[in-house]
Amino acid sequence: MSVVDGPRHVAIIMDGNGRWAKIRGLPRVMGHREGVKALKRTVEAAPKFGIECLTVFGFSTENWSRPVAEVSELMGLVRNYLTSDLDRMEREGVRLKVLGRRDGLPSDIVQIIERAEARTVANDRFVLQVAFNYGARADIVAAAQRYVDQALSGEAPSALTEEGLGSRLSSSGSPDVDLIIRTSGEQRLSNFLLWEAAYAEFVFQDDLWPDYGESALGRAVELFRRRERRFGGVEARTAAAI
Ligand code: FPP
Repeated sequence: MSVVDGPRHVAIIMDGNGRWAKIRGLPRVMGHREGVKALKRTVEAAPKFGIECLTVFGFSTENWSRPVAEVSELMGLVRNYLTSDLDRMEREGVRLKVLGRRDGLPSDIVQIIERAEARTVANDRFVLQVAFNYGARADIVAAAQRYVDQALSGEAPSALTEEGLGSRLSSSGSPDVDLIIRTSGEQRLSNFLLWEAAYAEFVFQDDLWPDYGESALGRAVELFRRRERRFGGVEARTAAAI
C-alpha cells in the first residue's frame, strides 16, 4: 500500500462510547475515557495511510443536553487531552486546531485551546482538527455573518463566492474532506462538516469507537480507495488514482 494514495483529509464521527460501556456494565463515562485512548491510537496511525488531516467530532452543540455529569466528564477529557498530549503533538509536528464555538465553553478550556493552537501553529507534518462545541449549520451561519459584516464595512466584496464563505469557516485552510467515517453502525451526518464534506465518500463501520485504531482505520481507507469518485462528472476515477 502506497502512502501517496490518500485520502488526504479524513473526518470521523466517533460514535458508540456509551454502548461500549453499557455492554460491559460500566458507566458511560468509562466509554468516553476509552474513547480518548482510541483517538490517540487513530491519530498515531493516520499518517501511515497518507492522511494529512484528521477531523474528529468531540462534542456537538447538541451534546449540552446530556446529563450534567457526562458533559462535565467530556469537558474534563478535552482539558486533559489538550494539556497532556501537547508536548507529543509539538514533538511530532502535529498542528492542532479546534473547530466550533468558543463562547459557552468554560473559560479555562478556551485558554487551553488557544495555548495548544498557538504552540503548534508552525507544525506542518499533520493537522488534527477537533470539533468541539461544534455544529456545521452554526459554523456556516457564523461565516456568513462575518462575511456580511466585512462586506458592509467594505473589507469584502458584496458578491459572495464559495471561496469567500469557505475561507471564513472554522475549518478554513484545511483541504476538502475526502472520507467521512462513522463508527457504531449509525449512518447519519449529525450536523458535521456539511460544507466541507460536499464530495466526501462515506464509510460506516460497526466498530464501537473505544475499539477503534489502526486496523479499523486501515479497513476504512481500503474501502475508500476502491470507490469511484466522479465529482459530478461522468468519468469514473478510483479514489486512489486522484
Ligand atoms: C459518541 O458516543 C461520542 C461522543 C459524544 C463524544 C466523543 C468523545 C470522545 C471520544 C472523548 C473525548 C474527546 C476528545 C476530543 C478528547 P455516544 O456517547 O453517543 O455513544 P452511544 O451512542 O453508544 O451512546
